[in-house]
Amino acid sequence: MQKSALITGVTGQDGAYLCELLAEKGYRIFGLVPRSTRYAFGNLDYLGVTDQVDFIEGDMTDEASLIRAVRRTRPDEVYNLAAQSFVATSWEQPVLTTEVNALGPLKLLEAIKDFAPRARFYQASTSEMFGNSHDDGLQTEQTPFHPRSPYAIAKLYAYWIANNYRESYGMFCVNGILFNHESPIRGPEFVTRKITVNVAKIKLGMAERFGLGNLDGRRDWGFAGDYVRAMHLMLQQDEPDNYLLATGTPHSVRDFVNAAFRHVGIDDWQQHVYIDPAFKRPAEVHALHGSPSRAAEKLDWKPSVTFEQLVAMMVDADLARLKGLVAPGMPGR
Ligand code: GDD
Repeated sequence: MQKSALITGVTGQDGAYLCELLAEKGYRIFGLVPRSTRYAFGNLDYLGVTDQVDFIEGDMTDEASLIRAVRRTRPDEVYNLAAQSFVATSWEQPVLTTEVNALGPLKLLEAIKDFAPRARFYQASTSEMFGNSHDDGLQTEQTPFHPRSPYAIAKLYAYWIANNYRESYGMFCVNGILFNHESPIRGPEFVTRKITVNVAKIKLGMAERFGLGNLDGRRDWGFAGDYVRAMHLMLQQDEPDNYLLATGTPHSVRDFVNAAFRHVGIDDWQQHVYIDPAFKRPAEVHALHGSPSRAAEKLDWKPSVTFEQLVAMMVDADLARLKGLVAPGMPGR
C-alpha cells in the first residue's frame, strides 16, 4: 500500500531533499506551507519535485491548522522540519523562535496523538543543543546538552517533548540530532552559502570583498541529501530512538573560505574577506564535531559527500546560477 508523509517546512532545503527521496520511494507527500511561503517553491523547483507535493496551508503557530492538516491527511509519517532555523535571528526574535521551534512541535504532537496516533514522528533536532559541551572534543548521543542561543533552547524543548510523548503515550517519536548540513539550495544567510555565493561573484568580477564574523568557529558540515536518507531510515526502524548525524570531520569557517577560493583558483583570499563584527554572535558555539558511529551501526548510514566535494558542488552551482545557466527565481539569484 502507498505510504503517506506529512512534511512541515517542506519548502526549505531539507524539505526539498526529503521530497525528492520520498517521491522516488513512491510516497504520497503532503507539505504544510504557511501563507508567507505559499509560493516560495524555489528549492522544490530546483530539485524538480514541486509537482510531487500536495500543499496544505498551515502554520506551526496555529494549532487549529495543524489539527486540520493531520486529520485531513492521516499520514503514516510526519517529518517536522519547520523552524526558525537561523541561530543569529533567535536573539532578535526569541519569542517567535520559541513559538515556532518549541511550542510548534508540541502542538503538532498533540494533533498526531489525537488524530493519527500510529503515525511515526521525526523531530529535526540539532547539534546546537550541545553548545560548547563535548566529551574529549567529540559529541555523541550521550553528551550533556548546554544550549547557547534562544534557538537551541527552543530546540531542546522540542527534543524532550518528543521523547516525552514516546514515553508517555507510546508514540513512535524520534529525534535526529543533525550537525550542519548544506547544499546548493542552502539559504544564503548561512555561512557556507554566503561564502560560495560571494566567491562565485568575486570569481566572475561581480564583487570584490565580503564580510564575515568568527572565522574560528568549527562545524561538522555534511551534504543535506545524505542527511534526509537517514531521517527516513530512522522512521523505518522497529523501535523509536534518537540518532546523531554528522560526518565526523570538522572544519573551521576559515577552512571553508580557503577551500571555496581554492576551488576557483584564487589563492590570496585574505584580500577578499574582512571581519565584520556585526556577524559575531552574543554567545558562540565554538566547535561541533559529531560522532556518527551509532547511526552507522544501527541505520547502516554513512555520508557520501566529502567536505571538498561539498564546497565544490556549492561553488559550482553558484557560478552556474550567476552565469544565468539556471532559470531566474532560483535561490542565490
Ligand atoms: N551565518 C553566518 N554569517 N555565520 C558566520 C558568519 C557570517 O557572516 N561568520 C562566521 N560565522 C560562523 C558562525 O558564528 C558559526 O560559528 C558558523 O559560522 C556557522 O554559522 P551558520 O552557517 O549560520 O550555522 P549554525 O552552525 O549557526 O546553525 C546551523 O546548523 C545547526 C546545526 O548545527 C543551522 O542550520 C541550524 O538551524 C542548525 O540547527
